[in-house]
Amino acid sequence: MKQLKSLFTSYWRFLIVHTAAQIDLFDFLERAPASIEEIIEKLNVNEVVLKHLLQSLERLQLIHCKNGKWYNTDLGSYLTESHPNSYKQACILWGQEHLTAWQHLLYTLKTGKPAFEMLYKQPYFNYLRNHPKKLKNYHKAMAEYARDDYNLLPQAMDFSEYQSIADVGGGTGVLISYIAQSYPHLKCFLIDLPEVLRLIEEKLPKNVSMIAANFFHPLPIKVDAIILSRVLHDWDDVHAVKILENCYNAMNDKADLIIIEALQDKIATPELSLNMQVMCGSYERTSKEYEHLLSRTGFILKTIKPYKEHHYILIAKKVLL
Ligand SMILES: C[S@@+](CC[C@H](N)C(=O)[O-])C[C@H]1O[C@@H](n2cnc3c(N)ncnc32)[C@H](O)[C@@H]1O
Repeated sequence: MKQLKSLFTSYWRFLIVHTAAQIDLFDFLERAPASIEEIIEKLNVNEVVLKHLLQSLERLQLIHCKNGKWYNTDLGSYLTESHPNSYKQACILWGQEHLTAWQHLLYTLKTGKPAFEMLYKQPYFNYLRNHPKKLKNYHKAMAEYARDDYNLLPQAMDFSEYQSIADVGGGTGVLISYIAQSYPHLKCFLIDLPEVLRLIEEKLPKNVSMIAANFFHPLPIKVDAIILSRVLHDWDDVHAVKILENCYNAMNDKADLIIIEALQDKIATPELSLNMQVMCGSYERTSKEYEHLLSRTGFILKTIKPYKEHHYILIAKKVLL
């Protein structure tokens, strides 16, 4: 029963952390430990509510009080902007439109359609393009995950046989930068929408060129390999086929397509599928479903290998049609 009762209110814990991140509490405490009075003055919040928030955050082991001053714990520091492995923007992302859409899971369950589109009257990626601040938050959050998720990719597979490679839907370039640094001979391309590429603040490695392009239109490259990482899971089969066809036409003969995704027949992540369904109307696929999509678009699935956590690398060869 305890487990059940704690489940009912599990969102309380997330919203406590989300709210603290939103008001930059962790950033403030990272600069110097602070008393309640100093926090109230700096962050302009209600004293009684703040006391309860701080106590809750202490129970979650994110902050700690010593001699009347509040400190971040090591875990809490990850919610500061300055932490090299920060997850602050991800924490902010999940508590906004995603949370609102999840509250309408019942709509998605009844209709099979994404609650996001019912609520915001447009597909999620269109919404991001129309809301620059949201787009920035989304891509900072994606980069936070990418930094940790892709750091072992250059060792996990051998890229040395390729001369050129493109990361299509590569966001702000974390993945392709890891590969470019480990394989300096490789001519690398980062492809994403123009407004996404404009968000890039840090200099990319010298062997990475940015190309602003829409993957629903022909891509202006010809390369030995294309990476599609966490892209296809955003789209239903009709859209996924269009992306794969455009990749096919942008690849040299016998080039490789490298897909990185969760595979439901290997490690089930049904909650991730529900998230994709409420947001985008897509879901995490099985190996067979990828194999089928690939064979419809001129590829043969050659290899599947486990990567990190629930991620798998699928390597498919372009066959000549
Ligand atoms: C879930 S993110 C994955 C980003 C990155 N590959 C990663 O794994 O961190 C999906 C990516 O697809 C890009 N995207 C969405 N629609 C696109 C389009 N029509 N053309 C090109 N890129 C697009 C987004 O900007 C975003 O970078």
